[in-house]
Amino acid sequence: MDKHSGIKTVKESRDMRAALLGWYDAAGRQLPWRIRPEDDARADPYAVWLSEIMLQQTTVAHATPYWKKFLARFPTVSDLARAQRDEVLAMWAGLGYYARARNLHKCAAVVTDEHGGAFPRTEAALLRLPGIGPYTAATIAAICFDEPTNIVDGNIERVISRIFALQSPLPKARSELRRLASTLTDPARLNITRPGDYGQALMDLGATVCHPRRPNCANCVWESHCAAHARGQAAEYPKKTPKKKIPLRRGVVFVLFCGTDVLLSRRPDKGLLGGMMGFPGTPWSQGQPETGMDTAPLARNWELCEDEVKHVFTHFELRLTVYRAHAPQAARRDTSIDGEWADLRQIKQYALPTVFSKVLRAAQK
Ligand code: ADE
Repeated sequence: MDKHSGIKTVKESRDMRAALLGWYDAAGRQLPWRIRPEDDARADPYAVWLSEIMLQQTTVAHATPYWKKFLARFPTVSDLARAQRDEVLAMWAGLGYYARARNLHKCAAVVTDEHGGAFPRTEAALLRLPGIGPYTAATIAAICFDEPTNIVDGNIERVISRIFALQSPLPKARSELRRLASTLTDPARLNITRPGDYGQALMDLGATVCHPRRPNCANCVWESHCAAHARGQAAEYPKKTPKKKIPLRRGVVFVLFCGTDVLLSRRPDKGLLGGMMGFPGTPWSQGQPETGMDTAPLARNWELCEDEVKHVFTHFELRLTVYRAHAPQAARRDTSIDGEWADLRQIKQYALPTVFSKVLRAAQK
């Protein structure tokens, strides 16, 4: 074992926290939901919660306009609770992972109805709310209520795996990694100050210095504490078990135009993209695609569109074959056609998930 591996002494751990907080004060990111030390204000748990839910699986740049739009439309958690779910889903469109939007709305209702409109103030109580997992509970409790929690997100995993040169591969070694991270946040071991800033500083260090492929070690405040760097191997951590390839699913969708309208259908509430608008078509399944003509909304001369639509979800990759057709004006009054006619000039209002925006683009090409 070299001098860098293993848990740091209490003294070194303290020095590391102090150095990181000093770096954060000078170089941490300005983010719209973030209260910086110089702001001399408390973070609003509602605004922080909203940002943390949006930032799961989404970049800061992509999430920021959504966060601003939500806060402007729903200034308090109770405003969000009272909103129609469809409006919340529509405003969420483009952020992906729509179960998060449904849970967001549920969580707002629980905070409003069962907690008098104020977020609970401890990690344990936050964890009981819908859609709030260990990361979000730890982060809100630290940032808003100064609880010395152990925040671990993807960026922090990378930093910690390098600092300790964690040999076991992720994701299996997650609990070991959490234990290593906790040696720097444990109030029984260290005198913890500014737990929220510490967690955010670590996220920033991961995002701006301790890059996945090209870590900028020369500009890292923890360079002299980093076991992976001492071995000249920072970029090789975290070690990972190779990912299984995700399966490929296929499906067929039908885009039926009628004048300036297009036919949409609402997806079932449960399941992927539940409750969102989309186009009619076959289920998405592995194996050989069928023509799917029996699922077309209307018997027509369907024209095969040149572009296949590709979209990657968490658990599978999707290829959609797109057919288009034009229906006569009378189709709009045809009650045997399932779905909803949507004016293409106002298609934004329908908040199509990204995969269906791609479908529409393919059909309009
Ligand atoms: N990513 C998600 N939440 C964050 C936060 N509070 N600070 C920095 N990066 C983040």
